[in-house]
Amino acid sequence: LSLLNTGQQLIIATGLVAMLWRATQGVVDGRMTLGDLVMVNAFMIQLYIPLGFLGVLYREIKQSLTDLSKMFNLMEREREIADQPGAPALSLQASPEVRFENVSFAYEPSRPILHNISFVIPPGKTVAVVGSSGAGKSTLARLLFRFYDVGIPGSPSVAGGRITIAGQDIRKVTQSSLRQAIGIVPQDTVLFNDTVEYNIAYGKPGASRAEVEEAARAARIHDFISSTPAGYGTMVGERGLKLSGGEKQRVAIARTLLKNPPIMIFDEATSALDSANERAIQAELRSIAENKTTLVVAHRLSTVVDAHEILVMEAGQIIERGTHAALLGQGGRYASMWALQQSSE
Ligand SMILES: Nc1ncnc2c1ncn2[C@@H]1O[C@H](COP(=O)(O)OP(=O)(O)O)[C@@H](O)[C@H]1O
Ligand SMILES: [Mg+2]
Repeated sequence: LSLLNTGQQLIIATGLVAMLWRATQGVVDGRMTLGDLVMVNAFMIQLYIPLGFLGVLYREIKQSLTDLSKMFNLMEREREIADQPGAPALSLQASPEVRFENVSFAYEPSRPILHNISFVIPPGKTVAVVGSSGAGKSTLARLLFRFYDVGIPGSPSVAGGRITIAGQDIRKVTQSSLRQAIGIVPQDTVLFNDTVEYNIAYGKPGASRAEVEEAARAARIHDFISSTPAGYGTMVGERGLKLSGGEKQRVAIARTLLKNPPIMIFDEATSALDSANERAIQAELRSIAENKTTLVVAHRLSTVVDAHEILVMEAGQIIERGTHAALLGQGGRYASMWALQQSSE
């Protein structure tokens, strides 16, 4: 810009001097009047101002071109997970079977997270996953949602196994149909900077106010929303920062209830709630999960005692599995976790 401006000023100044010199000479020689000289000067000024703009315009055009190329770069970025060409939509019965077959997975090639995980959630049943934090429980949910593909990136030699829903490999169906079929109450809820109503209705675009309120009642948040001055029009703030952890979680639960999908994932869905609210919502969740295929990640074991199967995970492996009674009978890891939680309660 400095070069441009300096050069431009130099050219203009030279022109100015030359023209004034010629005009003055004309007046001296008597070929022009003094008025002509003033007119030449006025022309010069009129020319000079728009020429000065050229520099600014040039710079703006340059800036726009840079922005344009950045935008195209962004649009050309490959998606990490892409649909196969011509992939069909997931076809579903009312409550499909979910199957993990020898699933291995790593976010980064150097650090495998899951090792040969296999389990089946029969249609309409609930499988619970418990274990220490960092064991890979939330990763199971992310894989089922296909935020990542199974396998170890960069080492095709390790077979990653597969995940199927109603017998269909989730890599071979469209992501939109897959995600339509699954509802998740995640460990940390993402809310949009909009109203509470918008955030709940997001589970089912086009839902009526009555449906939203019904879902909010089931998630035990209707009373709280009604007690705020703006009611369902309350803005939740950036990422929901104006709500407490428990309130956010209940908005997420309401959203999932409204979506009412055939497959549900609860990832420590009630971890931020107090025990009284947790008990109330647990009862609600249980009745909703009644005929749905459900994967529950639980931090409190008492919430999953009636699960069809309980998987105890440790460092990416299933170290114990079975029903609550069977696991207690084994007297292993689960039994000691149970004893610990019972005594603290
Ligand atoms: N996006 C990611 N990139 C790399 N590592 C991750 C990522 N997400 C989670 N991990 C790692 O994977 C492991 C399992 O995480 P997670 O499934 O969230 O555990 P949890 O059982 O507590 O839900 C953790 O050790 C975590 O550090
Ligand atoms: Mg987790």
